[in-house]
Parts: sequence; structure tokens; C-alpha cells
Amino acid sequence: MPAKIDAAEVRRIFPEVDQITDAKLRQGVIDIWIEVAAEMAWDKLEDIPKNLDVEKYRRLVDHIRGVTRMALALADVAQREHGTKVDRDMLIAVGLLHDVSKPVECEPDPEGKPTGGPAKAARKSEMGAKIQHAVYATHKVFAHGLPLELAHLVVTHTHASNVRPTKSIEAALLFYADYADSDVGIIPKGGKPFVARWEVH
Ligand SMILES: [Fe+2]
Repeated sequence: MPAKIDAAEVRRIFPEVDQITDAKLRQGVIDIWIEVAAEMAWDKLEDIPKNLDVEKYRRLVDHIRGVTRMALALADVAQREHGTKVDRDMLIAVGLLHDVSKPVECEPDPEGKPTGGPAKAARKSEMGAKIQHAVYATHKVFAHGLPLELAHLVVTHTHASNVRPTKSIEAALLFYADYADSDVGIIPKGGKPFVARWEVH
């Protein structure tokens, strides 16, 4: 059953949203999460797994917070040590939204085995099967009148995308944080981490 959540609930699950200084951007991130929760087949956001693979035992919400906070930590060091300019608002917004379409890209699997962790068993939804990962999240960014740059960061965060971000510090920080947070979930379970899949051309 879809979940009816409000802004206070989004803030409770993703407290980092209040670090976004731009009011329109902050409200957009909150509204998108409220909308997606109302569209998903899950009872609550905390039940959703990070993915359907090795990391199925992990909660998506923990991954999203992990990525957002790792990206901010990288930004802090880059700013302090190298004077790198980082758009923190944009970095937090993309951290919180990069996987916002996952709740509708999968659905509860009543026949699924326990995941071995706090997340519940899931299977691909029709959306997940027919639409490339992050496309629906990108649609939400446009529908809420948020910046094109944010849409670019959301849609290019996945290797499913045919376009790569080439000029964005925020995209680079998000990329490494996303894979770092994924690998810390994969390695203890004996899966093949992203760090072992590097291919540089
Ligand atoms: Fe992610």
C-alpha cells in the first residue's frame, strides 16, 4: 500500500534536507519524496532494499543518507585542503534524489525469502523493468521546476545512462560516495565490489 508521508516524516528520515539553503530546492526535494511515497507499492520507505542483488539486505534510506553524508565529507575535505568550490545545495539535493525512483522501480515480493537484514524482499516492478534507472527520478526533478543541472546530475549518476557528467565536481563527489557506500555493503557479504570492476579507457 502506498505510504502517506508528510514533510516532517521526510525530514525525520533524511535530516540532511534541512542543510539545503535554497528554499525552493529544499521544498522540491521534500515534495518529490512525498509524491514517490504516495505512488510506491510499499507500506513504508524503511522497508525498501537498496537493490535486488547482494545489497538486498540493506535499507535504501540508509544508502541514501550514507551517500549524501559521504559526499558532503568529501566536499569538506576538498574545500579545506584544495579550496575546491562545491555547490553544497546541489550536492545534498542530488544525494537525496539520485535513487528516489527506486521505491517505484521495485515492489514487495510476497514470495521472497527474508533478506538477512532490515530490508524486505523485493522484485522488479513494471516501472523498473520498462524504464531505465533514474529516468523517473529525473522526470520528477523537471516536474517540480528544479534546475536542469540537478536533472543532469540525477540522470547521469548511473552507468545505465548514455551520457556522462564531465565538468561537474558535484557529479564526481556523488559518484565516489555512491560507489563507496555501495562497496561497504557488498564486501562484507562476499560480493564483487565496484572497486574490482574499474575499467579506464
Ligand atoms: Fe545510489
